[in-house]
Amino acid sequence: MPKDTLTITDNRTGKQYELPIENNAIRAADLKQIRSGDDEGLVSYDPALTNTASCTSRITFIDGDKGILRYRGYPIEQLAEKSTYLETAYLIVKGELPDEHHLKMWKHNITIHTMVHENVKKFIDGFRYDAHPMGILVSTIGALSTFYPDAKNINDIESRRLQTRRLIGKVPTLAAYAYRRLRGLPYNNPDNDLSYAGNFLQMLFRMTERVYRPNPVLELALDVLFILHADHEQNCSTNAVRAVASSQVDPYSAVAAGVAALYGPLHGGANEAVVRMLQEIGSVDNVPAAIAKFKKGEGRLMGFGHRVYRNYDPRGKIIKKLAYEVFEVTGKNPLIDIALELERIALEDEYFVKRKLYPNVDFYSGIIYQAMGFPVKMFPVLFAIPRTCGWLAQWAELVRDPEQKITRPRQIYLGAEERSWSPIHQRPVPEMREEAVEDSI
Ligand code: CMC
Repeated sequence: MPKDTLTITDNRTGKQYELPIENNAIRAADLKQIRSGDDEGLVSYDPALTNTASCTSRITFIDGDKGILRYRGYPIEQLAEKSTYLETAYLIVKGELPDEHHLKMWKHNITIHTMVHENVKKFIDGFRYDAHPMGILVSTIGALSTFYPDAKNINDIESRRLQTRRLIGKVPTLAAYAYRRLRGLPYNNPDNDLSYAGNFLQMLFRMTERVYRPNPVLELALDVLFILHADHEQNCSTNAVRAVASSQVDPYSAVAAGVAALYGPLHGGANEAVVRMLQEIGSVDNVPAAIAKFKKGEGRLMGFGHRVYRNYDPRGKIIKKLAYEVFEVTGKNPLIDIALELERIALEDEYFVKRKLYPNVDFYSGIIYQAMGFPVKMFPVLFAIPRTCGWLAQWAELVRDPEQKITRPRQIYLGAEERSWSPIHQRPVPEMREEAVEDSI
């Protein structure tokens, strides 16, 4: 009869240990009992947490080998085709698709929170004229914690619900204001008669017209892009939100940490990096030379590869199709030809095939955003808006999970042994010490 356990023999001591396996995992804390002397017990070493589950979750499922993504059990393809972003956000936050009544209430509860305090505008005014909107978003979301001190009551379910609605409602407003700052344009108030995506487009692009009505194709495309970015289980920014929230800080500060993590070029900044890369490549003729460079390790083919997907990212497939619907309205973005050629060559090239590198969500999203008139700097912001509902669902799951505590990983210390402090004139020149070169930043 097979047992759900793992037997470990420590060859240093000859001792055997039997560790329970639950959900195909052993508990790293169970390794602590394995000692070879007066050490603190065995730890698992996992830089970048590539094979460590940090939580149990019921929100998002990914099968990276098969290219499957589901929110609360629903395939991303069905949600992208049939749902709206707000309905999907309800699903992610609450666990079930809403009925008509609950969806109406949810929309109301979000849209009554779309305005921001006038002081937030003054705060945004203080940034330099060319401030990156993602930097503005990190700061303004963090600043919201000062407007809502009640958000500290993280163990109060009503407070959690209120902060969740506030954040989902306000993040598009902050994002739009960051854009208007970049353009030197006055801030547009939210228009709650419009859809979530439609209102965002209005706050971004309304100029002198009294009533702004977004192009329905672009409004729908943006809504689909929002659905595709709503959650993605334990990625870098979600892990940042969870780690920061584990100190029991308010959700505005935790979500600001998520936005900061998303800012990086290996995460939410990748769509920005893709467009810059395509512009640099310049033409289809230059693609083979660019691929050769990437293979030599001179830069990366941005928008390719994923820690979890070892197959086509299912979101990438939907976005590629969506691009052509957007181009019907905006005209074709010429960068698409370079992207298609890169994809064609890479998918046949041994380097990429062997490493299972496929296009990810960011490979085509930037091309759509650019065609829609967004400056490149806004791309990661367009990722952060919809991801807010995912971060909040993950935050609430963490707060409710009795197994979670403040995040505090271990380290393997490889530094100097204890040594004595010496007066300044008796110390060796730092560069002469071997370890100093290695340790220098
Ligand atoms: N271009 C060229 N080589 C690559 C790439 C790429 N885009 N991605 C990975 N590799 C190579 C890498 O050099 C390594 O080769 P070797 O085994 O010879 O050293 C191998 O593939 C494995 O790479 P890795 O860095 O160990 O893989 P990872 O799982 O740590 O990294 C990744 C995942 C997404 C950071 C990486 O694939 C990458 O940098 N991609 C480009 C940036 C990008 O598109 N990011 C968006 C991710 S999707 C949106 C999101 O969730 O944020």
